[in-house]
Amino acid sequence: LENGLARTPPMGWMTWQRFRCVTDCKNFPDECISEKLIRDMADRMAEDGYLEAGYEYIIVDDCWLAMKRDENKRLQPDPERFPSGIRALADYVHSKGLKFGIYEDYGTLTCGGYPGSIDHLELDAQTFAEWTVDYLKLDGCYADIKLMDDGYPLMGHYLNKTNRQIVYSCSWPAYQEGTIQPNYTKIAEYCNLWRNYDDIDDHFGSLNDIIQWFASKQDNLSLVHGPGAWNDPDMLLIGNYGLSDGQSKAQMAIWSIMAAPLIMSNDLRTIKKWHSNILLNKNLISINQDRLGLMGKRILEINYIQIWSKTLVNDIVAFVFYNPLPYGTPRYISVPLKQLGLDKKDAYNFYETFSGDLIGKFNRTDFINIKVDPSGSVFACWAEPTKLASEPKTKSTLW
Ligand code: GLA
Repeated sequence: LENGLARTPPMGWMTWQRFRCVTDCKNFPDECISEKLIRDMADRMAEDGYLEAGYEYIIVDDCWLAMKRDENKRLQPDPERFPSGIRALADYVHSKGLKFGIYEDYGTLTCGGYPGSIDHLELDAQTFAEWTVDYLKLDGCYADIKLMDDGYPLMGHYLNKTNRQIVYSCSWPAYQEGTIQPNYTKIAEYCNLWRNYDDIDDHFGSLNDIIQWFASKQDNLSLVHGPGAWNDPDMLLIGNYGLSDGQSKAQMAIWSIMAAPLIMSNDLRTIKKWHSNILLNKNLISINQDRLGLMGKRILEINYIQIWSKTLVNDIVAFVFYNPLPYGTPRYISVPLKQLGLDKKDAYNFYETFSGDLIGKFNRTDFINIKVDPSGSVFACWAEPTKLASEPKTKSTLW
């Protein structure tokens, strides 16, 4: 969507994956969907380096609404959990330098059973603008998927009419996939980002299933992917319960190379340093935020290792070597640079992505030797063109 927004993949934090639909604030005061949770997370984002790293949007997902609209049919938040109202909460978020996002549903009800938008699209767009909302996730539960091709653009029209700059996240194709072929050209024209596939859950099986689904559709999806328009494989799980250390790095590396939105859903109040370091890694973020906005692709598979690549500005190429097997021992592969598409310049300097360390200089006729740990781990690196090495020889990285 060419509305000037989301020129690079949106980055932020969202309630859903980690906090779901907890509404019992008496028993779970720190976990329930409430203004306190959003304020807590806004504080952490502003003070712990996330905002500085680029994580800008804080988004309230489902279960913020009261069960009924007010007497003027306007949406209203649950009065016990959001006693100050949404406008005041947005003001607080803005005072921290962050942007404020909210969730609604195109259908009659949200997925959690709260009032949907379908009969009040224009009024709801106006309400969001008055509340100074900067990002809307419009879900698609309880809706006719055939109506979505007109309904999502109509809501986009009403958002645009408010004159407020609102990032528009659509779940439109996620509901159509598997039943009717989504019209991605149209979706990219009307939405800044869109969920394509199943909800992510806090375990490696879900993560890997999503990765494989996107890889299998990459040739189509990459055609519409770019500044203002992003395929969305769903939230980052990093910092929660389900992923191992290696799998956490894998999600960040693959989301970065896919130029996917980086929307965390975790508890930033208690996250371990090891996890926040992954989320704040400057090299991964700059691969993700590269201004060309190309969607990286899975280009090769060697001995079960899936190799992804993404071209960045200045002919730099980022790579992820991913071991999708949920078991085993480290795997060792030897790859000619030519097979990685690196045969156009004389030589390349390779850097390991997580550390930024120089691995070495390789001529285009060389091989690179890579070790990838088991159980969903990655090796990530990038290659920068350079002049011919003086003594051409096969270099070894980690073995
Ligand atoms: C759907 C969406 C999720 C989340 C829930 C909320 O499942 O795909 O991302 O918004 O609804 O109920």
